[in-house]
Amino acid sequence: MIVPQFLTKIDEKQLHNGAVSWSSPSNIALVKYWGKKAFQMPRNQSISFTLEVCRTTTKLSFNKLDKPSKGFSFEVLLDGKRKTNFEPKIEQFFKRIENYLPFLNDFHFKIETSNSFPHSSGIASSASGMSALALCLMSIEKQLNPEEPDTFFYKKASFLARLGSGSACRSIDGDLVVWGEHPDIEGSSDLFGVKYPYKIHDHFKNYQDTILLVDKGEKQVSSTLGHNLMNDHLYAQTRFEQAKANLSKIKTILETGNLEDFIALVESEALTLHGMMMTSRPYFILMKPNTLEIINKIWAFRKQTGLPICFTLDAGANVHVLYPERDAASIYEFIKSELVAYCQNGHYICDRVGFGAKQL
Ligand code: DP6
Repeated sequence: MIVPQFLTKIDEKQLHNGAVSWSSPSNIALVKYWGKKAFQMPRNQSISFTLEVCRTTTKLSFNKLDKPSKGFSFEVLLDGKRKTNFEPKIEQFFKRIENYLPFLNDFHFKIETSNSFPHSSGIASSASGMSALALCLMSIEKQLNPEEPDTFFYKKASFLARLGSGSACRSIDGDLVVWGEHPDIEGSSDLFGVKYPYKIHDHFKNYQDTILLVDKGEKQVSSTLGHNLMNDHLYAQTRFEQAKANLSKIKTILETGNLEDFIALVESEALTLHGMMMTSRPYFILMKPNTLEIINKIWAFRKQTGLPICFTLDAGANVHVLYPERDAASIYEFIKSELVAYCQNGHYICDRVGFGAKQL
């Protein structure tokens, strides 16, 4: 599948050596992407808060080769150390995007990357990592084609990032990003993420996300395997319809600021994602006992205080605790005194809604 709008004509002869750097954030989905078609196309629409603190910083140095390479010529370093086990994923990414960036074979690339969160934190770095790399590549394209408008630059960056990792297309912009064509969201597309274009109630400005690191091990189920489980899942069609309906519902919630409805939708999305995993073949339970302890504590605290605290989960055991800034003081006290005990080595990350990637 070739998408003509992203095939840009450039004259790669002008550029020799150089380096570009971007810092790109992670994101946390409120309506979850779970299930994909060929060419990294989503089976359902999703929406996420862009985060601020959890980020990947990538420096991409490029050196012109004497003659174009047959394969791709690159090396990947994480925190200054060569990471050969990252290379197959980058190789696959380059293959998927080479039609859109014809200069890929003309350079040797050194990809130096680091995360603001520890590598073994159970936090996926694919969204922030792939979006940072896509933006660096777009910065090279921009040097070759300086007339390129910013709107095109960011749209194509999201398009390319999606081909690296689906959720990465939601890590370019902020504060809320929609991915997947939806009749209620103007401009939405399966091909790239778009900044949520409607009014957002003040409750959702600077929303807090305290990430409780329950299990810092490697992912038990790779995302590709996980998404594939939806291909012949008995409940798949209903789930995709539910996600579509939830996107319509969250639009109203974001406008009115109805936190009760927000909590019900977000927690249901998290549990549905895990429900899908528990009911697929093969089946998985990715929550840990401490995940459930935390969820029960959150529910009890919410019942007792009436404060609008809720949780969401990704495809793992860690818990994202979400709450509005205006209640941050008392909720943070509760997190420290009651929830941190369930984290591995007491580790957690205080994050919040952010506004997207930054060029360095
Ligand atoms: C559970 O974006 O990691 O976090 O496209 O295979 O790279 P690939 O999958 P990935 O899937 C993330 C799924 C999720 C939900 C979400 O972020 O929407």
